Amino acid sequence: MSDQLYFGKVAFIGFGLIGASMAAAMKQAQICGEITAVLRTQKSCETALRLKLCDSATLDPRAAVKGADLVVLALPVASTEAVLTILRGYLKTGVILTDVGSTKVSVIEAAKAALGDLPAGFVPGHPIAGSEQSGPSAADKDLYRGKSVILTPLESTGAHELDLVTRLWEACGAIVTHMQPERHDQVLAATSHLPHLLAFNLVEQLASSNDNLEHFRFAAGGFRDFTRIAASDPVMWRDIFFSNKPALLDAISDFEHHLERLKLAIVKSDSDSVLGVFTRARAARRHFDHMLKQNAYTQQLRDNPMSQEFVCAPAGSGGAQVSGSIKVPGDKSISHRSIMFGSLATGTTKVSGFLGGEDALATLQAFRDLGVTIEGPDQGEVVIHGVGLRGLKAPAGELYMGNSGTSMRLLSGIMAAQTFDTVLTGDVSLSKRPMERVAKPLRAMGAKLQTTGERGTAPISITAVKNLTGAHYEMPVASAQVKSCALLAGLFAQGKTSVTEPEVTRDHTERMLRGFGVEVISEKLGEHATKVTITPPDKLIACDIAVPSDISSATFFMVAAAIAGSGSITLEAVGMNPTRTGVIDILKLMGAKLELSHEREEGGEPVADVTVHASKLINIDIPEHLVPLAIDEFPAIFIAASCAEGTMRLTGAAELRVKESDRIQVMADGLTTLGVECTVHHDGLTIQGRGGERAVFGGGRIECHHDHRIAMSFAVASLRSTESIVIEGTETVATSFPNFVELANQVGLQITAREV
Ligand code: S3P
Repeated sequence: MSDQLYFGKVAFIGFGLIGASMAAAMKQAQICGEITAVLRTQKSCETALRLKLCDSATLDPRAAVKGADLVVLALPVASTEAVLTILRGYLKTGVILTDVGSTKVSVIEAAKAALGDLPAGFVPGHPIAGSEQSGPSAADKDLYRGKSVILTPLESTGAHELDLVTRLWEACGAIVTHMQPERHDQVLAATSHLPHLLAFNLVEQLASSNDNLEHFRFAAGGFRDFTRIAASDPVMWRDIFFSNKPALLDAISDFEHHLERLKLAIVKSDSDSVLGVFTRARAARRHFDHMLKQNAYTQQLRDNPMSQEFVCAPAGSGGAQVSGSIKVPGDKSISHRSIMFGSLATGTTKVSGFLGGEDALATLQAFRDLGVTIEGPDQGEVVIHGVGLRGLKAPAGELYMGNSGTSMRLLSGIMAAQTFDTVLTGDVSLSKRPMERVAKPLRAMGAKLQTTGERGTAPISITAVKNLTGAHYEMPVASAQVKSCALLAGLFAQGKTSVTEPEVTRDHTERMLRGFGVEVISEKLGEHATKVTITPPDKLIACDIAVPSDISSATFFMVAAAIAGSGSITLEAVGMNPTRTGVIDILKLMGAKLELSHEREEGGEPVADVTVHASKLINIDIPEHLVPLAIDEFPAIFIAASCAEGTMRLTGAAELRVKESDRIQVMADGLTTLGVECTVHHDGLTIQGRGGERAVFGGGRIECHHDHRIAMSFAVASLRSTESIVIEGTETVATSFPNFVELANQVGLQITAREV
């Protein structure tokens, strides 16, 4: 077998949009010689030749396949048997025979009926691409670029032949998946055939009513969007529906069942049920968008019109004034954990203050995919109907974690103990972050999991095991995610599991598990290290969770108030868990005028109102033990340090390099663009503060590498800039702080978010 992919002669039986586009893509990829097309009329032969889509065109399929190395059936699925019967005995030995039909079982049956024994070169396929236009004149050489093609090889299919067809489609720009034919038909019945049927049916319903003219005149976006595909070829779709009858009928019955349930809920004005369906559907739809892009917030958005940037107006000559009292959204770490533990609990868990940001929603969607019923989020309220410690079900596909490291690392611990396999995937940024750090302790407990590539990144493939065994793990890095992952696996293990952390990290897992009735013991070892031990429980007992405001989100406003020319900001009900308050200690050490009031406890977590006044800041050497306690706050602290007098030195913070971006390098690059002097070290940063000057920053364009915290930090810098600061790639702000711009503008910043 030569490595060169080349088909000397190719015959297309049928040459509509799909076949002609494939021919054009193959020509462009230079993987074929002569292309012959079989069409139904002399006129269409002339059109195909005139458009130079093929080298010869004929009405005679037998003549076309003579000497062909590759034959592509690109005709209505219902014609497969008749055409292959005509071609029997005319196909060259060793020919590759493939098709592009929308159903697979019926095509395979037709091929068997026509040809008897199927040749090794028969590779059924289905490109998931097209448009409501038809005919060769609609051909598009880029139609398959980035689209999925499903191949459904049979036992008779040769490995070499399958490889050739796979590479053929990849050369056309497609992403190829192999699947069982029956599975293909079920999946397509639900995702393509049923929606087409519904679109045809809805248009028919409106068109056949007496006042149809009026209906169409006023049918706006919803109707148009929903029924675009009803403009597709009726004959083709009739054939598809008939040839995929059993799977389509199942999908229709399922649809009727769901529609009936929704109808009943509307009859009874059952608001909970209706909202439950709609909110779940909305969340699933957004998740699905991200999943399709496989890079929800990064690459795709960079060259996609939906990418966003912030334009931040500079402060006036007197320095900006900020003022106001605001409540920032719920804590991200606690929101993730509320979904995870609520799902594993026995009983119903009610969560309030839940963060409706993309990251926590990725966790929420993952547990829905694992069979948990979760209502909401509706204005921060989520109701989780726990399935019990052993009640998760195998998901239908991969679990997609978007941009969220917490989802992926904590879920690894839970998934490693299940009796089914799972694959955890994420977007481009998450797929670069280290995952061996969680794989190691899990393997020590007997888990079977595989990270990807030399650097041990996502996707993570987890294989079912019978049992995990409790173990002790000494963590080399201070990471709450690694600690939590091991403790969560420990929930399912035989015997106790313990973890030692070299520095104190956030303890939300320990606190919340105790709230769910689990025995978790934390012991101090020396000055900073802690050992945490979990005893596997029989069950988690559902409870209510009030999520406090996220101190990490509040930080942007603490820094804004501290560096502003005048004024003060109060942040209400901010989480004050002592493992998270490093930023308060650091800002106070820098001389920030910061007060806590109304200190209280809500739902097992301490909270307080935080007021910060415009302050004269002095730089410090950041104490290393505070680094894990302020790990997410450094981008904003660097902005404060730029506005302080003297030199800030940060060391022992190498972890910042493996966050959503390399936060040391990316912040240094941005600060340099804005005229602040800084020096990058392997584990930290030195910043020469410019606190003596009113205007600390110049203007410029900042690339935040789609890192939410970098984006928000540089927006805050505009309070001390002379020119506008434009921050590119800010769409990820929605992962943790969806209403950031609104609140920032409310207290005195001037940020315009625009889609680019
Ligand atoms: C988190 C832990 C921290 C933090 C992240 C959230 C958590 O990560 O940076 O944003 O919820 O456990 P590490 O544990 O990797 O330091």
